Amino acid sequence: MPKNPDGLIVSAPAKINLFLHVGDKRADGYHALESLVVFAGVGDTLTFAPADGLSMSITGPFAVGLDAGPDNLVMKAARLLAERAAVTRGARIVLTKNLPVASGIGGGSADAAATLRGLVQLWNLKMPPDDLRRVGEALGSDVPVCVDSMTAWMEGRGEKLTTLNDVPEVPIVMVNPGVAVPTGKIFAALKGRRGIGLALPPKMRDAAALVAYLKTTANDLEAPACEAAPVIATVLEALASQQGALLARMSGSGATCFALFGDTETSAMPPRR
Ligand code: C5P
Repeated sequence: MPKNPDGLIVSAPAKINLFLHVGDKRADGYHALESLVVFAGVGDTLTFAPADGLSMSITGPFAVGLDAGPDNLVMKAARLLAERAAVTRGARIVLTKNLPVASGIGGGSADAAATLRGLVQLWNLKMPPDDLRRVGEALGSDVPVCVDSMTAWMEGRGEKLTTLNDVPEVPIVMVNPGVAVPTGKIFAALKGRRGIGLALPPKMRDAAALVAYLKTTANDLEAPACEAAPVIATVLEALASQQGALLARMSGSGATCFALFGDTETSAMPPRR
């Protein structure tokens, strides 16, 4: 991780659910999931500098309205890690919020996971990756996968992970319509669903193979999210109709949608006027 005069710099890439199948609601209130999760080349950035106590500030295009107080998931992650590792040191954390909030692409979870990674380094902790993911699990269902930020097959409520090395890198365009969609509300509105029980995906050589596989899957949260925020359906239609778009889908509980492309030229769409 690079250092600059302001401290250690850690990136928190956006998480994308290429598909998301939802199973039954469990006794703990969470739903069993199955998802293929990848990470984008865009995300938030955090810096960590040594300090006596823990503090954070937020800057960047989506900082407005965000609370940098003790309930921020970044601060919760920092406190929980300090507690689990019996650390009494502090840190001054600056979050540059580039990703929209409550948008189905990790956001706060990626920030929390980046906080765990950053503080392990700043505090020089020897914490095995499994233990770090377990700290993440206590913070939210999407945090464990964001700890490594690597392509993964996700199960359980999100915490059971298998790293996948043979999913091809594919150009992607992400569109967020600017409406915040609360995850719990979308899960609660779920009606039909694919359920879980898929085998791990086969080895996929290129974008065409990945898309052929993904067309056998879905995002079960798309329907309730489109009901809660109809603009999502408009975004999905617009993405699907772009030249060269191979597949358009929503990520997580929305509202961010994405389209996969076969090559970088067609994915570099000019902005609509
Ligand atoms: O774990 P996290 O706090 O991100 O989850 C937010 C909400 O999303 C949960 O309170 C729950 O309502 C819903 N959820 C779920 N099943 C999951 C993950 C999240 O029902 N596997």
